[in-house]
Amino acid sequence: PALAEDNNRSRTMLVSRFRSVLEERQKNATGHRGLSPSGEAAADMIGVALEAVKRVEERSHVSGAFTRGPHETDLGYPLTVIEALAFSANLTELLGLKWKRDTPNGQNFIHFAHLVLTEGYGSAKSLDFYFRAIQYVSIAPVDLGWVNEFIGTALTYAVGGGLHAYRKVPKEGWGYDASFSVRALPDPPAGKPLVVGLISDWGCGTPASDAVLAALATHSPDVIIHLGDVYYSGTPAEQREFWLEPMLKTFGKEKLLLQVPGNHDYYSQGGAGFFEVIDDLRHQNASYFVLRGTHWQILALDTGLLNSVNLVPTDTMTFLTQDQASWAKQQLEFGKDNGLKTIMMSHHQLFSRGESVGVANAALNEAAFVPDELHGTYPWLWAFNTKSEDLPGNLPPDVHPAVNTRLLSQFPPELLEGVSAWYWGHEHANMLFKPYAGLERGRLIGNACIPVPKNLDRYATSNSIDAEPWGGYAETLPDSRIGTGDNFWNNAFATVTLDGPKATARYFELADKDATDGSGPTWGSATQYYEEEF
Ligand SMILES: [Fe+2]
Ligand SMILES: [Fe+2]
Repeated sequence: PALAEDNNRSRTMLVSRFRSVLEERQKNATGHRGLSPSGEAAADMIGVALEAVKRVEERSHVSGAFTRGPHETDLGYPLTVIEALAFSANLTELLGLKWKRDTPNGQNFIHFAHLVLTEGYGSAKSLDFYFRAIQYVSIAPVDLGWVNEFIGTALTYAVGGGLHAYRKVPKEGWGYDASFSVRALPDPPAGKPLVVGLISDWGCGTPASDAVLAALATHSPDVIIHLGDVYYSGTPAEQREFWLEPMLKTFGKEKLLLQVPGNHDYYSQGGAGFFEVIDDLRHQNASYFVLRGTHWQILALDTGLLNSVNLVPTDTMTFLTQDQASWAKQQLEFGKDNGLKTIMMSHHQLFSRGESVGVANAALNEAAFVPDELHGTYPWLWAFNTKSEDLPGNLPPDVHPAVNTRLLSQFPPELLEGVSAWYWGHEHANMLFKPYAGLERGRLIGNACIPVPKNLDRYATSNSIDAEPWGGYAETLPDSRIGTGDNFWNNAFATVTLDGPKATARYFELADKDATDGSGPTWGSATQYYEEEF
């Protein structure tokens, strides 16, 4: 009871701090109203977030009843219960929220509300169903646990002064130390090729994440790389429970366990949790790294840092800070000079066919990086001085390009020439692209745990992004698309087997199946949906 009281008190403090930050932001954003579409949208969205905070404050008496690991569930569950009850009683329509009821997701929320009413708020059945079918759903009706992203980001600024835990590349002479964070690819077991296991957007701590990891383990990978996003907001507890512990339990410490951060990993305490767990393992000393062998090198980048602001609705395109961009360029040139083939990896996509990668400039986002710049977390972001019109594609400032033109200007086609494939996540989907924007193989593998309702067309192109300068939308390879289960799009992962100069990439998917006892979706073993050599 003392602990619950303590939790309650710290949550109340947290929420009230969050509210004052939001109110401050609302004042600023209102000042931007009419000046820009992003200022307008920011003001609107902050208003909605303030509404949510008010609801948490009003309902605080129902929370604290239980905890499952980090504080996140403590906040997300009560809010989502209220929402599901309102939705099942048609009350959300009174608020003007016309969410579809006849979808797998809508049906799950109605079933959840029914369980809460019949089995009880804190019953094992209600909780279990929440973990299997509701938690992390981000298509309406949504899991309101996502409010933690905003709280995490707000606290980074309100308490942490807006500083991030990033570690820049050490200086060497006039440039940066190219030998920093480079290690050898491990030797495969005698007579066997090296297997690299790849997962992205996997840190949910749900039955789906457990199933994906178990399926990956059947391929006995020698190296396991997570391309980022531990949900909801990468707190130290979430990093430990949702990444480090399951990884160690499944693979043991002798396997090379690595990760690069996504946006979520930087949302709480400036990313302190991400660095805590990599320091525990000591398999990497930065949020970016190179694994170098005799035929191959893997270049993994931190694109999460400059996409870590989650208080405004318009993203600026993420890119690499100057230290890392210069370091990465040296790695690619080293590869070319030494006849190595390179596989790149990052959380964020170089391009998309269905989602915005952001715009070039947005005042609030840029302002959010000033504390780090003043502190010297990384060199000053002069990149923002280059305006949209002067970036590849030469698009007007309010256009969302299909290609992240800031990243593209850091990795122009001539630099990407020696790159065999670039793996990324961030979008909760899986797409294997035809050559596009100077990249031979763009590989999106971003759905390792997030439940994406199957009625959503995941392969649809977006009207709000401009793909014209690159000859239209990026296309997927024939017969390379994943399927759906009873409720959601399949979760997926990949393995890349390195055998001398030959790489074989295999792509696997897991479908959800409704349990007969009504306890919600279950995940079995994986099946391969694509294979390629490069
Ligand atoms: Fe994600
Ligand atoms: Fe992400």
